[in-house]
This record gives sequence, C-alpha cells and structure tokens, in this order.
Amino acid sequence: MRSVVKGSLQPYLTTKHGVLFNSDCMVMLGAIKSDSIDCVFADPPFNLDKEYENGLSDNLEKSKYLEWVYGWLEECVRVVTPGGSIFVYNIPKWSIEIGHFLSQRMTFRHWIAITMKNTYPRGNNLYPAHYGLLYYTKGKPKVFNKLRVPIPTCRHCGKEIKDYGGHRKSLNDAGLNLTDFWEDTSPVRHNKFKTRVANELKPMIPERAILMSTEPGDIVLDPFGGGGSTFQMAEKNHRCWVGSEIGPCEPIAERLSSFVDSEFETSIPKKLLCVFS
Ligand SMILES: C[S@@+](CC[C@H](N)C(=O)[O-])C[C@H]1O[C@@H](n2cnc3c(N)ncnc32)[C@H](O)[C@@H]1O
Repeated sequence: MRSVVKGSLQPYLTTKHGVLFNSDCMVMLGAIKSDSIDCVFADPPFNLDKEYENGLSDNLEKSKYLEWVYGWLEECVRVVTPGGSIFVYNIPKWSIEIGHFLSQRMTFRHWIAITMKNTYPRGNNLYPAHYGLLYYTKGKPKVFNKLRVPIPTCRHCGKEIKDYGGHRKSLNDAGLNLTDFWEDTSPVRHNKFKTRVANELKPMIPERAILMSTEPGDIVLDPFGGGGSTFQMAEKNHRCWVGSEIGPCEPIAERLSSFVDSEFETSIPKKLLCVFS
C-alpha cells in the first residue's frame, strides 16, 4: 500500500475515476485543497437516533448536532471550486438551519422538496411529507444543465395524468422540465435493491444533482458514503469522485464491484491527485 495522502489517510478502495476513504469526513476534507471540487453531495445522518453501525450517536443535543454539521459544511464550502455546487439532503427541521448557514457563504439556488412515502403522524404536528435537498453554488453556477423528466402517466391505464390545459402539443417530446418538487422518486430505496439495511438513497437523487451541476470529467465529493449511491452515479455518468464513510465500507465495495473495476488499498487515480494537498 502506497501512501499518497499526507498523514494516516489511506484509500479504502479506488476505481479508475474515484477514491473512497474509510474515515471521518473531517479527516478527508482536511486533506483536500481549497477550490478543487466541482460538486458536493451530502446526505448526513439526520440525528433521528438511527443505527448506522459506525459507533457514533445519532441522537445529539440540537446544539451539538448543528456544531457538527457546521464543521463539515464549512469545509465543503472551502473545497468547492468557484461556480461549483453543494447539495445537502436533510429533514426540514435541519435544512432551515443549514440553509441559513450556507446563505451567508454561498448563493442559494433551490430548496428541492422530495416527497416522503409512508409518512405517519408525529404528535401534535402535520404529517411530514417531504425531505429538503438544498442546492447552493459558490457564486454564479459554472454549469447548469436543464434536466427533463418523462411525462407522467397513470400506472394503471398508461394514459397521461394531466391535460396541460390544451397545450399538450407544444410539450417537448424529451419530457417536462425538472421542477423543484420531486415526487417521482421515493427517498429510500426498496429493500430488494439495497446493498445495506437502511438509509440508502434512491440513486436518482444524487444522479440528478450530478447531472444538473457538472460535466463529464468533473469531480464530485460525497462525505457520507453510506451504500455508495453517489459514487455509483458518478461512475455511471463519467464523473470523477472522492468520498468518505466512517462506518463499514463493504456495502460500497460490493456495489462498485458489480459496476466497475475497483481495487483495494491502491493509489489515488492520477486525475484526482491534484485535489489533495
Ligand atoms: C444517511 S447515510 C448516507 C447514505 C448514502 N447517501 C446512500 O445513498 O447510501 C449517512 C452515512 O454517513 C456516515 N457517517 C456519519 N458520520 C460520518 C462522518 N463523520 N464521516 C463520514 N461518514 C459519516 C454514516 O455511517 C452513514 O453511513
């Protein structure tokens, strides 16, 4: 095993386009140069007392959780290149605090609402029905690709659901423009498709973030690897990637091995060496 990053940080695995560290994201971020990453996609623990098998508490006091969040967010802002983007996925309770923090440092683009399936009432509150995917850029976005989605049809009869007020003919055959309200993706993947037990995003979520804000060859960073959705979507779409996961990385290795050639404990791909200080 060759040491290519200063200190004790060693790759857990590499592909031709990516590198994964089995480490605390703060250690990985600390090794990354300022203004070197094109897109950050972050899906952190939501402090909902979930078990991530990483030995850490997911049930912190509000101030402690936010202190932790602001620590890695500040680093993400530092490493993103001018015009680059940061996406942060969370529940509205935390998204509003994260948005406040980021708005003082970056340019707000969107609060994307992603519908939550199988919601249930929580005490004297409205049913929570969406997650927030915050989208910020460091100044003016250097890339913004307009994405299109298929025209929605009824899953029973196959007919289109809306009549578009008589303007159906003028719709683009490639589909509708993507909006900031995503109801065509259930946030958590069906068990059948998961490589681990819980909290794995449907890959369409990081994939859309990557496609709208980067070009092939750009570098995507995900501090919270989980089951590796972001890394898989970066590979699929010919982006380079850098990631960390503090808990078990086997699910990521398993996912990537069925998709691309990956090697354990090898050196970082040449095109990513420039991001490490
Ligand atoms: C919500 S999951 C991410 C799921 C991922 N987006 C996916 O689709 O598979 C959050 C992950 O962050 C990891 N994590 C928590 N604290 C971390 C830290 N300080 N550094 C790196 N990873 C961390 C957890 O172990 C967990 O796997």
